[in-house]
Amino acid sequence: MRLGAIPHGVVERVALALGIVPTPILDSIIALLLARTVMVATRLGIFEAVAALPRDADEIASQCDAAPGATRKLLDALVASGYLRLRDGRYSPTRSARRWMLKDSPHSLHDAILMQFMDEQFIAQMESFVRTGTPIEMHEHMTPESWELYQRGMRSGARLTTPEVALRLPMPRNARTMLDIGGSHGYYSVALCRRYPELRSTVLDLPEAVAAAAPLLAREGMGGRVIHRPDNALTADLGREQYDLILIANLVHHFNAQQNRDLAQRCAHALRPGGRLVIGEVVRPQTPQAAGQIGALTDLYFAITSAGGTWSFAEIADWQRSAGLRPRRPIKLFTGPGGGLQVAERRR
Ligand SMILES: C[S@@+](CC[C@H](N)C(=O)[O-])C[C@H]1O[C@@H](n2cnc3c(N)ncnc32)[C@H](O)[C@@H]1O
Repeated sequence: MRLGAIPHGVVERVALALGIVPTPILDSIIALLLARTVMVATRLGIFEAVAALPRDADEIASQCDAAPGATRKLLDALVASGYLRLRDGRYSPTRSARRWMLKDSPHSLHDAILMQFMDEQFIAQMESFVRTGTPIEMHEHMTPESWELYQRGMRSGARLTTPEVALRLPMPRNARTMLDIGGSHGYYSVALCRRYPELRSTVLDLPEAVAAAAPLLAREGMGGRVIHRPDNALTADLGREQYDLILIANLVHHFNAQQNRDLAQRCAHALRPGGRLVIGEVVRPQTPQAAGQIGALTDLYFAITSAGGTWSFAEIADWQRSAGLRPRRPIKLFTGPGGGLQVAERRR
């Protein structure tokens, strides 16, 4: 999957094939405009305004507390970009917008899109990152508001992969205790505990994250079966032989190789014999070509935000092996582009 020029009609197709379409303009100003259009529409509540029935631009502007003429331009941009339909002067969401953009859709990406107002500030630091090689270490510079935006965004994005992870993660037999490191909203733990009724989970995350994520976990109504533990994964004492399953989902891209080796070692000690360490990540394939556009761009993004970046299955398995665990074959996820699980087992 990649973002790119989609030709309309034969002439454009031929021009694209001949290489005479100025694709860098599409990749820069048009991509920027499209991104902001979707983000601003989400923040203004445009999709909610047309969810129940089609409305004209003036009605939408009034409902969203926006200027009518300017709103019409935004609405037309959304029509041209496949988010809204326009019939008889009235706008309504397309099928795709209903699925992804409405707040109460079971597939809603509403909060994940809002989090991109924070992402764009990080991305603006790209040039200084490339010049100096110094990442911004996002977790050290966030306000309580941005922690909230971040945790809600993570919860929203987790919707995409959690059902598949809950289905395909190879749970050790009779597992009772789980540790979910960097688990934020706890939704992976919630889904696994719902699937395995004997399982209980502790979700370890930074104190600021726990403060912002606690209401998201409370909403799931899991009571004492899924609890938060505010702590730092880089320094926390994880104990000895306490857990049947340790899940680390979308965290190791924030850490460097040595930090990840050390974390894998502490996880290995914390696993019971037969227990499993599962590291879920957007995985970096061996070459940029194999990574594809999404893999390579997210690698750059993660490197801007933290000291890490994406890692390959082989690198993750190597940390697990060095910690005395036995890595299994990687599991590629269908529902998370570029995502996968690297599972390793502690010998019995
Ligand atoms: C990208 S989010 C992933 C959240 C969740 N596991 C998921 O996949 O949706 C990374 C999480 O790791 C947490 N985190 C970052 N550094 C951490 C650290 N040193 N110790 C514990 N958690 C950390 C962040 O607060 C955040 O909640």
